[in-house]
Order: sequence, then structure tokens, then C-alpha cells
Amino acid sequence: MATPAPRKILVTSALPYANAPLHLGHMLEQIQTDIWVRFQQSRGNDCLYVCADDAHGTAIMLAAEKQGITPEEHIERIRAEHERDSAAFLIGFANYYSTHSEENRYWSEEIYRRLKANGHIASREITQAYDPEKNLFLADRFIKGTCPRCKTPDQYGDNCEACGATYTPAELIDPKSAISGATPVDKASTHFFFKLPDFEDMLRGWLAADTLQPQVANKLREWLDAGLQEWDISRDAPYFGFEIPDEPGKYFYVWLDAPIGYIASFQNYCKRTGHEFDEYLRPGSDTEMYHFIGKDIINFHGLFWPAMLDSAGLRTPTGVFAHGFLTVNGAKMSKSRGTFINAHTYLDHGLDPEYLRYYFAAKLGASVDDMDLNPEDFVQRVNSDVVGKVVNIASRCAGFLRKGFDNRLAGDCAEPELLADFVSAGEGIAALFEAREYNKAVREIVSLADRANQYIDQRKPWVLAKEEGREAEVHAVCSVGINLFRVLMTYLKPVLPAMAAKSETFLRVSLDWHALRGPLLDHELATFEPLMTRVDPKLVAAMLESGAGAAPAEEKPAQQAVDKKSTKGKPAKTDELPAEIQFDDFAKIDLRVARIVAAEHVEGADKLLQLTLDLGERGQRQVFAGIKAAYQPEQLVGRLTVVVANLAPRKMRFGLSEGMVLAAGPGGEEIFLLQPDAGAEPGMQVK
Ligand code: MSP
Ligand code: ZN
Repeated sequence: MATPAPRKILVTSALPYANAPLHLGHMLEQIQTDIWVRFQQSRGNDCLYVCADDAHGTAIMLAAEKQGITPEEHIERIRAEHERDSAAFLIGFANYYSTHSEENRYWSEEIYRRLKANGHIASREITQAYDPEKNLFLADRFIKGTCPRCKTPDQYGDNCEACGATYTPAELIDPKSAISGATPVDKASTHFFFKLPDFEDMLRGWLAADTLQPQVANKLREWLDAGLQEWDISRDAPYFGFEIPDEPGKYFYVWLDAPIGYIASFQNYCKRTGHEFDEYLRPGSDTEMYHFIGKDIINFHGLFWPAMLDSAGLRTPTGVFAHGFLTVNGAKMSKSRGTFINAHTYLDHGLDPEYLRYYFAAKLGASVDDMDLNPEDFVQRVNSDVVGKVVNIASRCAGFLRKGFDNRLAGDCAEPELLADFVSAGEGIAALFEAREYNKAVREIVSLADRANQYIDQRKPWVLAKEEGREAEVHAVCSVGINLFRVLMTYLKPVLPAMAAKSETFLRVSLDWHALRGPLLDHELATFEPLMTRVDPKLVAAMLESGAGAAPAEEKPAQQAVDKKSTKGKPAKTDELPAEIQFDDFAKIDLRVARIVAAEHVEGADKLLQLTLDLGERGQRQVFAGIKAAYQPEQLVGRLTVVVANLAPRKMRFGLSEGMVLAAGPGGEEIFLLQPDAGAEPGMQVK
């Protein structure tokens, strides 16, 4: 059979906002993408995965300002964090870039010029709410006031969380800027629009092709049927982004240059490596381009982006693959409910990233259904399938081969049919990976692993090994077992790249689909090293608990909610911004001076110190504080600090925490415990 010519495939996942750490929802997307890319590569295709941080917008500008740094410094910091987290989950980007780059500026301007030259850009004056103190136009989510219907105070400018009413900010009673507190005024300014309605026919054709999942295409058709509107692609200064050519003080809206960032990141890769670039942009080229995205951003990728590309004379995507949202224990990830898990929180709890890769693969299909991270299910699938079934095949055979046969496999295959079955299952499994039906692929692989274990169980090499003159049988059975293991690990390599690399070291072959033709015969193995340890359920529980204890730090950028809402089709979310609280709420917090009378390490906790606090007449309290990286316990004993004294006690993995000490800083070593001036006494109220 002739090997088909390698396909040339460019793959992206959505560009995370440079505004908050990556969380497990981002990891779901990156892992889904990475598995597909690694699968393509192991099939011999030229498949490249590029991504970048999405660095522009009001929220990012404000976040930098808040920290007293430039937006450039802010986005660099976040990008380094993002790259570190993705790398830890073995995401194999060819390039990770930023939308705040020269390539992206070039392509944003170029595409805009082409759209304009084609008559697809309109401009007109619109009136918007404006913050006269901050000198900033206010998107709906940056305005708060009293609900015009139910009169609940403190509601966002687009909908009421209390009664569900939707309205415009102008209808709010007593509206205020959420940024400065000033009363917004109406102000007119010129905006630029992309004339999306001009693309109705083009988009109907695009939706009719097999580019999108049926559910997604249907949803987008509904939007088309409801009538397309011109898309506002400009924002007024001050804005962190690219200024529009020949329009001083006007900037490209973040969502205009974000998808262009895919092209920019790829171009940057091509410049660095000499890889061909132009061919990937040419309409009708036989290169392929796929975008993996979450279901919340399908309008941008399924309508605006293809229309822009079409107008600019560039190729449209070969496919847009939307996935659903990750929930944790059945609930939406939420800071306030404590179900929000950052990527580094997972890693900090010592959990192997491949557990999560396997778990996601075992559950992901090609639909846009949401996926739940359930702790028991997580532990059970990893321990029983990967460790108990797949790894077990190798570990139970390797010992006999080492002891009796110098790590050398038998010279012929005792079960050619069984092995042939395993190899011939490969095409079906490949088709499932190709179609992003990873859950079905994994099910096939696990059922093959069951067959391999049954075979070994029937032959009982541990019994044979004790009997005289049956060495050859032991050798034969274990050699078959290792060959079966080799096939399974080849299939699992896109999901478990690190375990596959360890297996390659052990097997002394590279695991590739095309290399599976013949069995390994009379072949020397390396000494077997453990491939994966079992998940410790306690670590998973601790990770979930730490979410519940985490201070609500960086929430999802408000910008996103604002932007998405204004492009219709996505309901406003309710827990995007840290809620403003009333003075009465604040007054409920009982802050007290406390003296640290004892400080100790906590066994098994890598972040916590256990503090014993003296609150004077209020007695002693025990609290756990995540300050281990910043302080030696001895440094703390005797000093004063501030504690939230009326926090309901929380049961933590290590014991009861009866309060919370206050500290400032980004985390890690940079945590500074608050300390009242000399003269303060334990038990005094902090006012
Ligand atoms: N910056 C935009 C994307 C621009 S692409 C040209 C954005 N960023 S994001 O950080 O909010 O989200 C990045 C990706 O993560 C999106 O595809 C989004 O759907 C996905 N997810 C965010 N939360 C998620 C879950 N809880 N579960 C799964 N995916 C989630 O949107
Ligand atoms: Zn209301």
C-alpha cells in the first residue's frame, strides 16, 4: 500500500485572554486540540499547532493600570504564565505568540484595507455612555445602577441578576460607571463597521458545506435568519490595541484582530523556521486550517471570521470545531462557589497532567455537549484503565523477561492472529481520532487492553515460571504481551505523550502508526521503569477544596462578557466581575489584631502553614494560611497580624481553619502578611 502524501494542516485553539491564569476549561480545549495534532503527526502528516495570547482590549488596559504597570508588561507576565502552564500539560505548540505583535498589526491593517477597498467598511456616528471622570466610553457591563423593573440596586447595564430583566444602560435608575463611580453621560463618536449583511449568501454557502458541526451550523443559521447586522469593529481611545490606519484615536476592537492572531502566530513560526506560509492563505490551496474553540465564541469563528477572510481574498477555515464547557462536580466553574480550578492549582497539588489528558480524552466526543469533571470518575478511570489495564500489561510481562531472558523478546510471535487483530483495529481507531470521537477511540483501546490482560491471565506466566521446562512458554506469552502493549501505546501516544516517551525508552522503538507492521522479535528491551503511578484521591480532594478556599482573585475579564454580549447570541454571564459590595456588607467583616503564637509546617501541604493566633480576650484560634513559600515559621512567631475573626470555620484536608489572616501580593514568595503598627493589641478591632 502506497503511503499517501502527508497533509499540510494548520491547527489553532482559541487565544486565551491575557488577563487571567489558564483554568481547566482552557486546558480542556488545549488538550482536545493537542491530541488531534499529535494524532495527525503520528500518522505522518505535517500538522502545526499555533496559538497566542489575546492581548488587547479595555479590560487588559484597566488591569495593567490597576497594578501600576504598562499593558505591555502586564501581557508579557501573563503570557509567560500561560506558556508555562500549557507546557506542563504537554501542549505541543509549534508557536505561542501574542496578538500584540508586528505580524498581527501588519495583517490587521492589511485585512482592514482590503475590506475597505471592497466597500465592506461603513462608518457612522453612534452615541454611547461615557465616563466623564475616566474619559472612557463605557460598554454595558461597565455601567451599574438600579433595575428599572424590580428596583434591585447595583445591577449591570444590560440585565438584572435579581429579576432577569434585560434593558439598555439608559434605562437603569441612577446609573454609575463601574470604573470610577461617576454618572455616565451620553457622548457621540464615529465608529467603523464591517458590513456583515453583504455576506449573507456567502455565509449560507459556508454553513451548507461540511465545515461545522450540525448543531453549530443550525445555531448560526438561526442568526442568519434573524438578519445579520453590521459589526462594530472600532473603539475609541484610550484603548489597548492597534490604531486604525488613517483614523487617529480609533482602534480595532479586540475581536477584529484576535482571529487574525492565528495567521500572525503562524507567520511568525514560518519566519523562524523557513516553513512555507503563503500557500496556507491561498483560497483553493490544498492545505487545511482548523480552529478548535469553545461554544461561546462560535459567532466570531462561524460568521465574522469567514466573512472577513472572504472579503480579504484569503482562504476560509477547513473546519471549526466547537466543544462544550467544563463543569466541576456538575456545576459551572465559579470562583464564588469554589469550583474554579486554575491549571497551576491542579499542578500544585502534585497531580500528573497526563491523568487529566486521559480523563478528557476518555470523555470527549465531537459534540458541543458540556463535560463534567467528577472526582470519583476521574480517579476510577485513570487508575483502572491506564494503570490497572494498560500499564499492567507491560509491568506484569517485563519482570519475567528481565529475570529469565535478559530483557530479550522471543524470536517469533506465538499469537500472530491476536497481534494482527490489534494492529488491524488501528484504522478504526484512527478514524475515531480524526473525527474527534476520542471517547470512542479510548473505549476501543481499553477493550483491546482487556483482551491482552485476558490472554495473559489465561496463560498464567507466573504459574508457568514455577514449572520445570516451561521457560519457552513464559517467554512466548510475555513477548506477545509486550507486543500488544506496544500497539496500545502507539494508539495512546497522542493522549499520553510522556508515558509514550517512557514506553519508547523501554521498548527501544519509536511508537508510530506506520511502524506497526511487523512485531518486535528477538529485540532487546530496556529495563522496565514505572510508567505512571495511581492517582491519589486525597490529592484530587485537596485540589477541589483549595478552590473553595481560594480568594476570588482574577475573575474572567469583564471585557469578554461585554464584547460577546454586544455581538448577540451570548447571554450575559452573572459572575464575571467581582461583585461590588455595600458598606453594610463590609461592616459585617470582623477584622481583629492577632498575635501569632505558633507557626508550623503542615505535613503533606506544599503551600500552607498552620498558625496559632492569640486574639486577646477572644482566645486562641487555629488557621491555615497559604504563605509557606514566603515565610519560615520561626520568622512569624511573636508578630502581629490581622485576621478575619468571624469567618465561619472551614474544614480543610489538614484540619479546621477558624479564620483567615490577611496578606497582600500576587502569591508564591511574594506574599506579605499585614502587620499593624506597634501599640496594637491582640483582640483589637481593625476599623
Ligand atoms: N480571547 C477569546 C478568544 C479569541 S480566539 C480568536 C476568548 N478567550 S478566553 O480566555 O475567554 O477563552 C479561551 C477559550 O477557552 C475559548 O474557546 C473558551 O470557549 C474556552 N473556555 C473558557 N471557559 C471554558 C470552560 N469552562 N470549558 C471549556 N472551555 C472554556 O474567548
Ligand atoms: Zn430587576
